[in-house]
Amino acid sequence: MVKVSEFLKEHGKPPREVYLDHENCGWVPPEVVEAMLPYFNKKGYGHPSITNLPGWEAYEVIESTIEKINKSINARDGELVLTHNGTEANNLAIIGSALARSKERNKIIISAIEHVSIIFPARSLEENGYRVVMIPVDKEGFVDPYMLSTLIDNETLMVSIQMVNHEIGTIQNIKELVETVKDKDDRIIFHTDAVDAYGRINIDVEELGIDLLTLSSHKIHGPRGVGALYVREGLKLKPIMHGALSTQKMWPSVENVPAIAGFSRAIDLAFTNFEDNVEKMKMLRDMLIEGILEEVPEVLLNGPTGEKRAPDNVNMSFLHVEGESITVELSLRGIYVSSGSACTSRVLEPSHVILAIGRKYEEAHGSILFKTSRYQKVEDIDYVLSQVPAAIERLRTISPLVRESRGILKKMVGT
Ligand SMILES: Cc1ncc(COP(=O)(O)O)c(C=O)c1O
Repeated sequence: MVKVSEFLKEHGKPPREVYLDHENCGWVPPEVVEAMLPYFNKKGYGHPSITNLPGWEAYEVIESTIEKINKSINARDGELVLTHNGTEANNLAIIGSALARSKERNKIIISAIEHVSIIFPARSLEENGYRVVMIPVDKEGFVDPYMLSTLIDNETLMVSIQMVNHEIGTIQNIKELVETVKDKDDRIIFHTDAVDAYGRINIDVEELGIDLLTLSSHKIHGPRGVGALYVREGLKLKPIMHGALSTQKMWPSVENVPAIAGFSRAIDLAFTNFEDNVEKMKMLRDMLIEGILEEVPEVLLNGPTGEKRAPDNVNMSFLHVEGESITVELSLRGIYVSSGSACTSRVLEPSHVILAIGRKYEEAHGSILFKTSRYQKVEDIDYVLSQVPAAIERLRTISPLVRESRGILKKMVGT
């Protein structure tokens, strides 16, 4: 097997780079890095639960960041738990709710296009007698409220449906889905994974009527290492981690204070000129979608269009090419994208999201996610558009999938 270090030597550093993989890991701007640095060794480097100056300074960062997050989603004091990432917050939401109400109900409804950090904890509960029902989505990724209402019964413990899909950008009508659930039975817990919605669409937990909501710092150009779970006041949740001292009762272990300071700065940057930021993302997104559809034959756009689509999401299936070969070919040209199921690219499995919207196996295999960012310029997208058609054409001429399908075609038409 080739070692990555050897591969990197051959890859080299392309003269021009455009990072479009913000889905899997966001690029962190210098202002955010600067905000983090003092907390490693200048101030607030202490344990936030300890009563000494570096500890209080650390605690102050936690307190002010929580206040800031609360304000941005209209939550109240005492309703937020900081975790170390979105995966932990999702696990706490699903498993913590189930454990808190294990004697009452056992059915968990999730959508078929949830992130794996929802699907896996839900599935893990099945071994302990819980039932997981996956609600299918339509060809653009939307959950049908009527279908949801038919799945709800007096065993239903919770419903978890994400606000924005991480791969195809579908913006669910969460208010309508919450109302559908609560009209049937207001004791059912409604959780939404808003990791891909935060900083892109307005979130008001009061107006939406949700009980639990997940956020993650690295999705808004904050650093890795911080997530958050909003927990409606009075909602029963059982801790799923037990151990070290922490200011967060629901999530033990020392908080990642430098990362929390970075998240805090990233929130300022995302929410100052929020509307302009979103408009910029939309403009770059549409430029990329239109450019690729115009210039590349045999390509499909996955997910909805216009206002129903996340402002930064472009997901395309390039027929007759493997997604992984596209990511490598584009990487050599300095364009960084991901393929397959975001977060599981290395498994080389087709994305469960793309399959769930009805695409064929081969179409799912050739799917590529480009995530634009407000830090990019029109010239960056121009560069991407100057490279993608040639990259796809080159791969198609050598692709076994192309050879195979052209061979079948020849046989069919008898040439
Ligand atoms: C929709 C969604 N939920 C949850 C997560 C997990 O967040 P984290 O990477 O912070 O664990 C991700 C990560 O990509 C995501 O896209």
